[in-house]
Amino acid sequence: MKKQQIAVLVSGGGTNLQALLDAERDGLIPHGTIALVISNKPGVRALERASERGVENLALDRKSFPSQAAFEEALQTQLKDHGIDLIILAGFLAILSKDFTDRWEKRIINIHPSLIPAFCGAGFYGLKVHEAALARGVKITGATVHYVNEIPDGGEIILQKAVHVQPGDTPEILQRRVMEEAEWQILPRAAEIVCSLLSSQSD
Ligand code: GAR
Repeated sequence: MKKQQIAVLVSGGGTNLQALLDAERDGLIPHGTIALVISNKPGVRALERASERGVENLALDRKSFPSQAAFEEALQTQLKDHGIDLIILAGFLAILSKDFTDRWEKRIINIHPSLIPAFCGAGFYGLKVHEAALARGVKITGATVHYVNEIPDGGEIILQKAVHVQPGDTPEILQRRVMEEAEWQILPRAAEIVCSLLSSQSD
């Protein structure tokens, strides 16, 4: 069986990347292998996490490209050069164009820190999602893994997991609980689900 070659796209801390690396090490992603990590910002912790596990990694600094199209062309070149089958957005906080998502239809997945369709779409990322959930007073939130299309957080849902909001939660406390109880669990599971599906399609 050919393992699906995975590229993980990141922008910062990389705790979801770590969950994927740990899951692969523990044999929980038998149909895939993390072949490449790309950050749209240089010098982030996520790139160190990749290096620590010996995974090839690089930064494509969005600001050093004259346009979104030029940035995406460089991204596309890297993905093709590494024979990538599946892209996982793990805390990747840049938007990808319709041109790009069309080229990778059903081959990009994203983790979002809420129960879509709540608190999602343009402007909802990172801590802002948890600030909005607390401001609205919801008692249950969670995380979602979904396919990526041209609509921000609009693609088909693959997995979701609910998390209770507790009295006294701050955005930071809630963010951490959603990561621990939901994101780090469902992202590796979704990666294996999609890799296994892609493997069966290429048989
Ligand atoms: C995670 O909570 C992820 O769900 C969120 O950014 C954080 C990245 O943390 N992503 C989004 O908000 C996407 N809209 P990490 O770098 O430690 O994985």
